[in-house]
Amino acid sequence: MAIRTIREEGDEILRKKSREVEKVDEKIKELINDMFETMVKYNGVGLSAVQVGVLKKVIVIDTGEPGERLVLINPKIIKEKGEQTVEEGCLSFPNKFGKIVRPNEVTVVALDENGKEFKTKAKELLAQAICHEVDHLNGELFIDKILPGTLEIINPEDQK
Ligand code: NI
Repeated sequence: MAIRTIREEGDEILRKKSREVEKVDEKIKELINDMFETMVKYNGVGLSAVQVGVLKKVIVIDTGEPGERLVLINPKIIKEKGEQTVEEGCLSFPNKFGKIVRPNEVTVVALDENGKEFKTKAKELLAQAICHEVDHLNGELFIDKILPGTLEIINPEDQK
């Protein structure tokens, strides 16, 4: 396992689309382990492979709630329901936060870390995290969806 470098704002890879994973092999499993380790180190709720420089459709999420630690490979959101207005941030934009409108509930189909297809329904924070990370796989960033007037830029000096 290893901590990987997180690509940050201004890195053009963040605007690129990720490719489908054809085979969940040892290399993908190592990527997943590294992504979890990296996400935990930086206190994230979710991380997509593009954020560590790999243009493959791989996402890890851990909201901290029981049953909400997920690996999503080649995810597809097949249903969205309702709306929630939420505060959002991103490990690639460590000092920026803002309010954004997300679906309140999503149904997603994906492969797990063993390459097995599964379907799950997610609400609230987990739904938000899934939408945020799936956007990353499409080269879309939360910063473009922030509600006008809600962007907050945190001075890193204030966090010490
Ligand atoms: Ni993000």
